[in-house]
Amino acid sequence: MRSTTAAAAAVDPALLSSAVSFSAGRELKLTAKNFPAVKFTGKRLTVSCAAASSPSQFGRRALMYMATTSFLMPFPNSASATDENSLLQEEIKKVLTKAKAPGLLRLVFHDAGTFDEGDKTGGMNGSIVYELDRPENTGLQKPVKILEKVKGQVDSVRPVSWADLIAVAGAEAVSICGGPKIPVQLGRIDATVPDPVGKLPEESLDANAMKQSFRKKGFSAQELVALSGAHTLGNKGFGNPSVFDNSYYKILLEKPWSPSDSMSSMIGLPSDRALSEDGECIRWITKYAEDQNLFFEDFKKVYTKLVNTGAKWRSV
Ligand code: HEM
Repeated sequence: MRSTTAAAAAVDPALLSSAVSFSAGRELKLTAKNFPAVKFTGKRLTVSCAAASSPSQFGRRALMYMATTSFLMPFPNSASATDENSLLQEEIKKVLTKAKAPGLLRLVFHDAGTFDEGDKTGGMNGSIVYELDRPENTGLQKPVKILEKVKGQVDSVRPVSWADLIAVAGAEAVSICGGPKIPVQLGRIDATVPDPVGKLPEESLDANAMKQSFRKKGFSAQELVALSGAHTLGNKGFGNPSVFDNSYYKILLEKPWSPSDSMSSMIGLPSDRALSEDGECIRWITKYAEDQNLFFEDFKKVYTKLVNTGAKWRSV
């Protein structure tokens, strides 16, 4: 039973005593004596096992089935999940440039930021692809087009959801611009309809309204401030447009805008400036201006929360 031991490492024992199903795009039917029946027809793959309790009960053939079909099983931390992630990262890196990074990061917020804790709608679900004609999404057609190419490539190897693709692309965008490396868990399922309208905060909001808007999505004032640091990328005047650093906070503290100076009045959105007028937010702005490592750590955490917000996951 040498092969039993070898393959057992790749098989999640939890799987062997439960039923599993997730989507995929091919047709496959596998069975083995004393082993989970693997039936893959049309859109769903189902793996079920009634009695197995230890890998040693399974035959060699069965373990080979598991080894050869393991690419279909999205176990977090398994070789399969790692491969899936590397494939995505590789394909994204082929098209990603620093100039494209701001648009890709903005796309993440416009997909996930629609989440509403009250009615549990919105969130990181890929619905942005149905919402590109909304005024707040002007300019996001381009990043979606870039990712369409990537999706085509990745889908030909194994299907990826828009939600996963956007989440990973945003993390790669941060990383290529010198920001923190952010691991992204895969397995989100895409929505098939657009999210309700009017869920993203408007740039004209004051700090209280902004905090309230983020509270409704499950984010604190500190998390609002950390996430807004994403505006260090792009052309709103917060330092180098393609360098991810803490210059957003340094410039917010300087408040270089003034109604009489047309150039400096271009700096920042009204919502960015509003944060610097709020006592609670200014404390975090000051901390992040003084300590870039703290900003990176907190951005990493809140980005992870953002891309998991409202997500529906493939079941394992
Ligand atoms: C706090 C509420 C937010 C508001 C009101 C807001 C609004 C805006 C607006 C109006 C723009 C300018 C778009 C344009 O150039 O046409 C922008 C740019 C951008 N936003 Fe936000 N945003 C917010 C939060 C976020 C968050 C949380 C992220 C990401 C985590 C983000 C990422 C970006 C990026 C990267 C850009 C630059 C895009 C580019 O230059 O192509 N924003 N945002």
